[in-house]
Amino acid sequence: MKGLILSGGKGTRLYPLTFTSAKQLIPVANKPVLFRVIEAIKDAGITEIGIVVGDTAEEIKRAVRRGGRWDVDITFIPQDAPLGLAHAVKISEDFLGSDRFVMFLGDNVIQGGISPLIAQFAESHYNSQIVLTKVDQPEQYGVAELDQSGRIVRLIEKPKDPPSDLALVGIYMFDQHIFEAVKAITPSWRGELEITDAIQWLVNQGYNVHPYIHRGWWIDTGRPGDMLEANSLVLEELTPTIDGYVDRDSEVDSRVTIEQGAEVINSVIRGPAIIGRDTRLINAYVGPFTSIYHHCVIENAEISRSIVLENSQIRNINRRIEDSLIGRNVTLHRSPIRPRAYKFTLGDFSNVGLLGDSEH
Ligand code: G1P
Repeated sequence: MKGLILSGGKGTRLYPLTFTSAKQLIPVANKPVLFRVIEAIKDAGITEIGIVVGDTAEEIKRAVRRGGRWDVDITFIPQDAPLGLAHAVKISEDFLGSDRFVMFLGDNVIQGGISPLIAQFAESHYNSQIVLTKVDQPEQYGVAELDQSGRIVRLIEKPKDPPSDLALVGIYMFDQHIFEAVKAITPSWRGELEITDAIQWLVNQGYNVHPYIHRGWWIDTGRPGDMLEANSLVLEELTPTIDGYVDRDSEVDSRVTIEQGAEVINSVIRGPAIIGRDTRLINAYVGPFTSIYHHCVIENAEISRSIVLENSQIRNINRRIEDSLIGRNVTLHRSPIRPRAYKFTLGDFSNVGLLGDSEH
């Protein structure tokens, strides 16, 4: 089998972070989501992987080459415009040939990896296997309607009136018949060739499409809230290791990972949390569900349930920072210079939540 990862897309819902970086490279528990996807595919025993790239191609290639000690063969497949998931399959036909393959969206995180799914598909005669899971807002996804015996009746992309709460997870398995399907369908209302329509075409032609119901968690990291949620869930599953330095005045609980070169001075860390390489915490509190990436400084400040990206500094803040997604090279500090006022240099589409006067 081969693997196909889709890593195009602009990530507009994650502006401003995605102005300067591909959304698939935002780390969850200090590892880019895309790297987690590559590892999940490799863990399932697949070593030939294609990555479909768009506008952020150069950045993705650089990161994968630099990060890559996975011992897999990676082929980059350029997609000129974001014309849909089925379009990505279409342009990958040369790479995929007649092999069965798994397609995995590069911004999805799933509990438990995909090894059981791949094993089940590899041993089966299914032409396709799709992954479904219950969600709260099915209208935001591709939705499946199953009959009483669990067979697929209908698949609809972002239905206004969803027939069920079973969403299509961004992980799909196909044999070569999918190429007939992606050539037969036409673009949807949003101008994309929808993979949902291609799978419906397979069902209509009588091909065997098997629905697998996933019962753990799954997150499509499209929005800041999803990133924080994925971060919390992955942190809970991390096996903690302490490779950095913790001084005697600090208190670090058992579910905390401290990476090499990190220093924790007179600080408290409550897990699950991760402190990245060469990051320094001084008189700081880092609360549960927080990931601080590499080369950051948190000094005289408190932060919980947040993600801080590399090279950022947070100093002398007298309110706890919570539920925040802080980008690269950000400086957040108390200004000593008068007037005593908020002073911002914020990128386009930044989102700052300040306390109201009555709460001060
Ligand atoms: C895509 C698919 C949708 C699926 C979702 C999973 O949606 O079209 O069927 O449920 O991924 O993340 P998109 O992210 O393109 O809106």
